[in-house]
Amino acid sequence: MASNARGHFSSKIGFIMAAAGSAVGLGNVWGFPTKAASNGGAAFLVIYLVMVFLLAFPMLVAELTIGRHGQANPISSLKSIWTKNRTLAGGFGLIAIVTASFILSFYSILAGWLVSYAIAPTIDLAGFHQASNWLVDFGVSRNLIFTVIFSLLTILVVLRGVADGIERWSTRLMPLLFVLFVVMILYICTQDGAMEGLKMYLVPDLSQLHGGLFVDAMGQAFFSLSLGCGSMMVYGSYLKKDVNLPKIAAQVASIDTGVAFSAGLLILPAMYVAKNNGVDIFTESGALKSSGDLVFKVLPAMFETMGNIGVLLGFGFFVLMVIAALTSSISMLEVPVSCAQDELGWNRAKATWLIGGLILLISIVICLNFGRLFGLVADVTTVYMQPLLGVAWAILVGWIWNRNKLLNEIKQGYPEIEQGFFWKIWPWYVRFICPVAIIMVFAYPLI
Ligand code: PFF
Repeated sequence: MASNARGHFSSKIGFIMAAAGSAVGLGNVWGFPTKAASNGGAAFLVIYLVMVFLLAFPMLVAELTIGRHGQANPISSLKSIWTKNRTLAGGFGLIAIVTASFILSFYSILAGWLVSYAIAPTIDLAGFHQASNWLVDFGVSRNLIFTVIFSLLTILVVLRGVADGIERWSTRLMPLLFVLFVVMILYICTQDGAMEGLKMYLVPDLSQLHGGLFVDAMGQAFFSLSLGCGSMMVYGSYLKKDVNLPKIAAQVASIDTGVAFSAGLLILPAMYVAKNNGVDIFTESGALKSSGDLVFKVLPAMFETMGNIGVLLGFGFFVLMVIAALTSSISMLEVPVSCAQDELGWNRAKATWLIGGLILLISIVICLNFGRLFGLVADVTTVYMQPLLGVAWAILVGWIWNRNKLLNEIKQGYPEIEQGFFWKIWPWYVRFICPVAIIMVFAYPLI
């Protein structure tokens, strides 16, 4: 084991940016606003906020604590808690690693499209219309090329390690993302039609509430905070012992939720600005267009109606999506890479190239069999595996980990924890409520 050669985040703010970078991704900038838009806007927003606070945040503390305790990859960290059944613990770690790898394999394809959409308007402006059509049309060659480009970006950051790669790039890219968001929201809100979108997003219509909304919001919160598949465990393992885990988890969850909320402030008004500009946002049956259509057809159509400023905005919007995706994809690749380093003794360069290359190969197979594999891989990993692994972590922390050892781990960065409200509620919460709630999320699609 090369545990003393492991990297560490050099500062708390570096960790917050990296973990928030992992959490803030396509789930926030794309998934959340389009789900909100198709589920009554404000009604979904309210339930989502409740789910983040009641379910995702306690699980984030649990995952960070497991990682920080083990100071190792998920396999070793889980073994260090479940000492009586190390083989099974390691097996769960391995499943998490495979899950993170498969999430990355489909995520890179989506992110690749965003890269091609970011450059298309500029290429069009330069007069290369055929090339720009190729960039925005669904096609195997386009999908393959941009998946390779995005995967290489991910590999290049992870190659540089925790402080020099992940932390440095997250700390650079995340503030850029926040600034881009603010500029775009301010601009969109000055456009005709924006207020209709804002109203839909911010004024709850209680008639839109239904059971499925709770389940959707829970799944979204889980994906958005990168829970289940080991990313947060690995990031937690790079944390120093003097860090207050509940506090830092609350900060990460707040940033993630803040960005999801802001993405809604951008996309919902943008949809209605598009409608105002003559772009169809509803299907013939009156339902909102699918989430893919909203991002890849409705928004570009809106940017087109805005002339040159639209080209700039379109570029800004897709660059923003690529940044969000990259700070998430590096956290996924870090899961298997950290394992190969610790468990197999590989150096970072070998681990990153070999595993990053293997995952890229899986992405290529998916691209070549898109219709059959893409939805399948996305569903199995995010609808089933992430929640199921979440149940496993809740049971481990709530039932198997000795309560005093758990307390001692968290106490190192939070000495007064026993006197506070958090310690009175959280262990019971993770023990009973979290597994039951997650099982409900998991079971709903089966029912
Ligand atoms: N949280 C990311 C998003 O919202 O797009 C997705 C994600 C990142 C899922 C890292 C899983 C993961 F390990």
